[in-house]
Amino acid sequence: MPDSVQEKISLVPFLKWAGGKSKLIHHYKKYFPKEGFNHYYEPFLGGGAIFFYLRPNSAILSDINSDLIETYQCVKDKVEELIIELRKHQINHDADTTKIHKYYYDIRSSSYTTPIERAARLIYLNRTCFNGLYRVNSEGQFNVPIGRYKNPKICNEGLLRDASVALQSAQLEVRHFKEILNYAKTRDDFVYFDPPYHPLNHTSYFTAYNSCSFNEDDQKQLRDIFAQLASRGVKVMLSNSDCQFIRGLYTDSQVFSSQNLPKINEILAPRAINSDTSKRGKISELLITSY
Ligand SMILES: C[S@@+](CC[C@H](N)C(=O)[O-])C[C@H]1O[C@@H](n2cnc3c(N)ncnc32)[C@H](O)[C@@H]1O
Repeated sequence: MPDSVQEKISLVPFLKWAGGKSKLIHHYKKYFPKEGFNHYYEPFLGGGAIFFYLRPNSAILSDINSDLIETYQCVKDKVEELIIELRKHQINHDADTTKIHKYYYDIRSSSYTTPIERAARLIYLNRTCFNGLYRVNSEGQFNVPIGRYKNPKICNEGLLRDASVALQSAQLEVRHFKEILNYAKTRDDFVYFDPPYHPLNHTSYFTAYNSCSFNEDDQKQLRDIFAQLASRGVKVMLSNSDCQFIRGLYTDSQVFSSQNLPKINEILAPRAINSDTSKRGKISELLITSY
């Protein structure tokens, strides 16, 4: 356990998120920096599994998804109001099983004016939609169909209150990942990057959670930022798919000298995102560290 992480109880995310890392934490533990750090950064926040596991004393959590960050901000600042709003969804959802579909699609097509209502809607849809995916159409409207759950826990009050306590140490920002260069500058900083994965093949389902595609240029830009942060002494850890393209980026001798070559670790992960359950199995992923 790094110095900067007090002995706090680890939490699990209050959102299900495609590519979420909750199931991989037991594989990741040994790769967290052994040396202490004072500030933690997670520029591809999603469900924030690593943040909630580590519970660092100081964090900047960011994502390009503004609806997601607004929801975190409500959990941080107004959790009791949010719980009241979510209880209404829970009651309406549970009231009549024959009307669940109608209720889901009514909420999906509604728009709300207050941040609390919007956050409650996002959490409600996240707990009840197919596989916890977040996907919007070209007009920015959420378009994931309803999932099949028996008794979804829409309003998990204990988890939301715990998440709110954990988030008191965090600053939440809507940011493109490249802005991390303005924040993380010294060896006291630890950055964890969990970008949309590079697809293993053209039909790969891996990027399905991401409405705007994250292409090879984005992966290259991210690699360059990794190298820049590492040269500042920042501790950097990055997850991605195990493929030649990603291995090539992080072994490129034009970018990394033999002394500062990143460590490439293979992690055997359950394949979580596949609509065809018969194709779910174990798959090798990469966990790349600068230290
Ligand atoms: C794989 S998910 C992160 C999963 C997260 N680590 C977890 O445990 O749930 C990737 C996230 O990156 C965000 N994202 C995609 N493109 C981005 C960009 N250019 N800058 C910042 N965030 C981005 C998506 O909105 C998504 O939440």
